[in-house]
Amino acid sequence: MSREVTAVEFVCLGNICRSPLGEGIFRHHVAQAGLTDRFVIASSGTGGWHVGDPPDHRSIEVARRHGVDISAQRGRQFTAAHMDMYDVILAMDASNLATIRRHQRPGQRARLGLLLDELPDFGLRAVPDPYTGTAEDFEAVYQMVDRACAALLARLSRG
Ligand code: 4NP
Repeated sequence: MSREVTAVEFVCLGNICRSPLGEGIFRHHVAQAGLTDRFVIASSGTGGWHVGDPPDHRSIEVARRHGVDISAQRGRQFTAAHMDMYDVILAMDASNLATIRRHQRPGQRARLGLLLDELPDFGLRAVPDPYTGTAEDFEAVYQMVDRACAALLARLSRG
């Protein structure tokens, strides 16, 4: 792997349920691999309703149960400037990706994609929004984001 720092951002709609889990879980995998100084890791939402808010308590809880602390994260809104702040921007679903793509322009730094496309055989391309769901929905989100983050780290570590 090159010695350079790779900046990764996870994006969902509200930045309180799914993308905070992406940020926290990916940071956990990176730390366990001893690669903390090789990554900048962030998240945001395409909507601005939860700017400054902590993650949803159900996301904090499911992460805590798996040994990941996301409670210090605070909501941020995606802006066009992120296209040059991050190398890889991964959306949780096609709607989020379409919103981000409206800010695309030639020569930008960021490569865009869907997080679940890190798992080509998974059979699902969107991380379902658990906002109106149950604790089981948050657990399912945790599991798929965890697997995708492991695959993402393997891909980015290969350079
Ligand atoms: P997230 O879930 O995109 O996974 O953070 C949502 C959180 C809040 C809202 C929508 C989705 N909302 O409408 O406030």
